[in-house]
Amino acid sequence: MKGKKVLIGITGGIAAYKSCYLIRYFVKAGAEVKVVTTENGLKFVGETTLRSLSNNNVYSDTFAEWNNKPHEHISITDWGDIFVVAPATANIIGKLANGIADDALSTSLLAFNRQILIAPAMNTKMYDNPAVQRNMEFLAANGVEFIEPDTGDLACGYEGKGRMAEPEQIFREARFHLDRSSLLAGKKIIVTASRTEESLDPVRYLTNRSSGITGFRIAEQAACMGAEVTLITGPTDQETFSKVKRINIITADDMFTAVDREFDFCDCLIMSAAVADISFYMSNDKIKKSGSGFELNTKDTKDILLTMGQRKEKQVIIGFAMETNDAVENAKKKLLTKNADLIVLNSISKENPAFGSGKNKVTLVSKDSVEELPSMSKEDIANVILEKTAEKLRSLSS
Ligand code: CTP
Repeated sequence: MKGKKVLIGITGGIAAYKSCYLIRYFVKAGAEVKVVTTENGLKFVGETTLRSLSNNNVYSDTFAEWNNKPHEHISITDWGDIFVVAPATANIIGKLANGIADDALSTSLLAFNRQILIAPAMNTKMYDNPAVQRNMEFLAANGVEFIEPDTGDLACGYEGKGRMAEPEQIFREARFHLDRSSLLAGKKIIVTASRTEESLDPVRYLTNRSSGITGFRIAEQAACMGAEVTLITGPTDQETFSKVKRINIITADDMFTAVDREFDFCDCLIMSAAVADISFYMSNDKIKKSGSGFELNTKDTKDILLTMGQRKEKQVIIGFAMETNDAVENAKKKLLTKNADLIVLNSISKENPAFGSGKNKVTLVSKDSVEELPSMSKEDIANVILEKTAEKLRSLSS
């Protein structure tokens, strides 16, 4: 993202305050940001805020002499690598779809000939209006990409579809266009993520602390590298990247079935999910306490990594290991017994809580090397794992 030039368009909707976070995401990632707003956009978020966050002047008046350039609507569009309109009202969508240019934002959007991303935000009834739908369809058919609004409580008191997607999601969709590579082009990759839940009775279940962050970052980054990604995930609050096919599962058994169905068609399986090792013969009724603990009827779950490792022909398989003692030794054993090509070892400690955190410290264990990585963001870890995956895929095909 370093050195990339991002134009952010802001229109008059309450979600404009979220655009401040969006600007932060881009700036933090090393991009340069310039903001273009409508007059109504500035009623929701102040120019000083936008200027401070973007470190650039805010462009909102077509006729103002701006940066000593009288044709700013043209020079600003030559400058930008991508144009992200968030929030986008029905009005700006309608203007762009119909070639109307009557203010700074609509004029510069019309003059912009690279990727435009639009994050609509409006009342459900407006969003469903056939005119708005037609305008969006027309723009989508002409290369504009839409980031679907979420469904939920809307500021106008309604409940439904129309709430602007979260800034983090918008940022990720934009990054796809800015940071694309072809490292994994043409490869089919299955990623498993998060945790499984095993029911004991109608009320209780056994699970673990895995948040799914690492798996979701791997899936997104693999898509940015050109792979066709299927993400098989247990319960999590992580948002799915639009270029990733997501399959939701609950139990270890469900995850086995989903991986089993896809495995023969993939080039690589990355098992980052924390799959339960045991499940239960579930009681139909709530289990009552007996005074001496619960009596639980457990059974082993099927080991997905082991099964696919035994079955693999030309696939690369990456496993994960979560260890508290003799970590490297145990990871090496897992590498061999599960016939994996790489084990990503998480060592849990006070200094490295791993679960739920944005950072982690992992060691990559393969047949001929043990590589201890420094503490880094889960996104950077995802990139390292995928670079290794690409190397292994290359050596398989050579
Ligand atoms: N795994 C799997 N199927 C299971 C359990 C685990 O595919 N039923 C995978 C995980 O996704 C991970 C790897 O196996 O990639 C290691 O999981 P882990 O729980 O650390 O190892 P286990 O083999 O279960 O051994 P142990 O719990 O004894 O350490």
